[in-house]
Amino acid sequence: MTALTLSTAAASGLRADAIVVGVAKSPKGDKGLVVAPGAEAVDKGYDGKLAAVLETLGASGAEGEVTKLPAPSGFKAPVVVAVGLGAAPEDGQDKGTAFDAEALRRAAGAAARALAGAKKAAFALPVADAADAGTIGEGALLGAYSFDAYKENGKNGKAPLAEVVLLGGKPRDKAFKAAVERAVAVTEELNRARDLINTPPNDLNPESFAAVAQAAAKEHGIKVQVLDEKALTKGGYGGILGVGAGSAAGPRLVKLSYTSSKAKKHLAFVGKGITYDSGGISLKPAGHNETMKCDMSGAAAVFAAVVAAARLGLEVNVTGWLALAENMPSGTATRPGDVLRMYSGKTVEVLNTDAEGRLVLADALWAASEDKPDAIVDVATLTGAMMLALGNRLFGVMANDDAFRTAIVEAAEEVGEDSWPMPLPEHLRKGMDSPTADIANMGERMGGGLVAGLFLREFVGEGITWAHLDIAGPAFNEAAPFGYTPKGGTGTAVRTLVRLAELTAAGDLG
Ligand code: BES
Ligand code: MN
Ligand code: ZN
Repeated sequence: MTALTLSTAAASGLRADAIVVGVAKSPKGDKGLVVAPGAEAVDKGYDGKLAAVLETLGASGAEGEVTKLPAPSGFKAPVVVAVGLGAAPEDGQDKGTAFDAEALRRAAGAAARALAGAKKAAFALPVADAADAGTIGEGALLGAYSFDAYKENGKNGKAPLAEVVLLGGKPRDKAFKAAVERAVAVTEELNRARDLINTPPNDLNPESFAAVAQAAAKEHGIKVQVLDEKALTKGGYGGILGVGAGSAAGPRLVKLSYTSSKAKKHLAFVGKGITYDSGGISLKPAGHNETMKCDMSGAAAVFAAVVAAARLGLEVNVTGWLALAENMPSGTATRPGDVLRMYSGKTVEVLNTDAEGRLVLADALWAASEDKPDAIVDVATLTGAMMLALGNRLFGVMANDDAFRTAIVEAAEEVGEDSWPMPLPEHLRKGMDSPTADIANMGERMGGGLVAGLFLREFVGEGITWAHLDIAGPAFNEAAPFGYTPKGGTGTAVRTLVRLAELTAAGDLG
């Protein structure tokens, strides 16, 4: 893991491989550049001509743009890395003016990514307050991520940037220290979620995922309970068992309980953990299953968020439920036409074995409901329909409570995750009527993401506030890396869940 520290050192005297500075588009609307606050000493090293030099080099200040140039003489670091922040705030030259947090996070991420192979970099980006330090730290630690476990010598090209030094903060200040600690805890767990998502499905199955969760829980004082096939059978978890029936690797339901002696509220997070989704007997065609190791991204996010909450000692009880199964076709697999008796007692006619996420979630939602938490949030790579609706960078938010849905979209926005509120239209429910069972696992094709949400709603305990995050779009980035988002598993929803736990602890949610 990349290390993160605060320093008051002068940029010129710092022994590092590079100094990162921010550059923004001039607020005057001309084509000019402005050097962002934090880089004054560096600019001075160039006789105040850094903006002009960068313009000559073709820099535009666009978000994520990286320009490398030799450091001024007298600087110990050999290279300056200028990273684009997009449009400067109106009075962007003034110290203390806030740049958009997400612009800072993305710029720090892009710079950290561009510095792969370097050991140590000092970040001289605009830090107006402790929150900015946390934001920049977060972006840098997320951007430095790379998944190398399966590469020769454990290296995917260059090694990730090893050390990030934040300039412009106050290392002894309580708020700055807390912001850095938070950034480290959240990004370490988020990056671990990315590792789990990227781990190929021949190495990550329900059993090994549960073992990872068990070990982490032990390390962080989280209570953990793993229901294996035997326990699931005894408990009547027909949904999870039905999805796992075709696989040689049996399903698991993991319950992680983080409790705080000062908690007034209890949140439950439920994650879809399909370690591989082949579609089952309703097999996915070639072209649709190559990335289906990512179908446990919801469970990975929940796992990461619970551990982060524990590491931060948040004053709220958080229970995480990981609904783990591998969806495979075989002679023992669930058939289209089979009826499953779910943990809630309801029966489900399985019309399409590829609509498996809702089946494992249904059991986990009902189990989570038994504890009567103040709210339940589930996270799932649930439908291709949500990707068609919202694209690859936003997740959809559905809920049985409009205010809660709004609060989640706002919390997500606060931490730099894009989402959009989606409805649960009642008229779509009848499409799931089954002549044989209480409900079918498929309904109308149109609005498929909402149909899935309506299905889940039936398995939430009476009177419990619930929201559903369909992260099918942003969970796995098949395109080029951008900002602090790498190729592959992204760890989406981790930061939103952590923020929800923080807001709940502060009494600002529900
Ligand atoms: N895991 C998939 C959804 C998915 C697709 C996630 C692409 C990420 C990328 C899910 O289990 C699924 O197969 N859903 C079906 C449901 C349908 C059969 C009702 C879908 O969306 O096609
Ligand atoms: Mn599926
Ligand atoms: Zn799936």
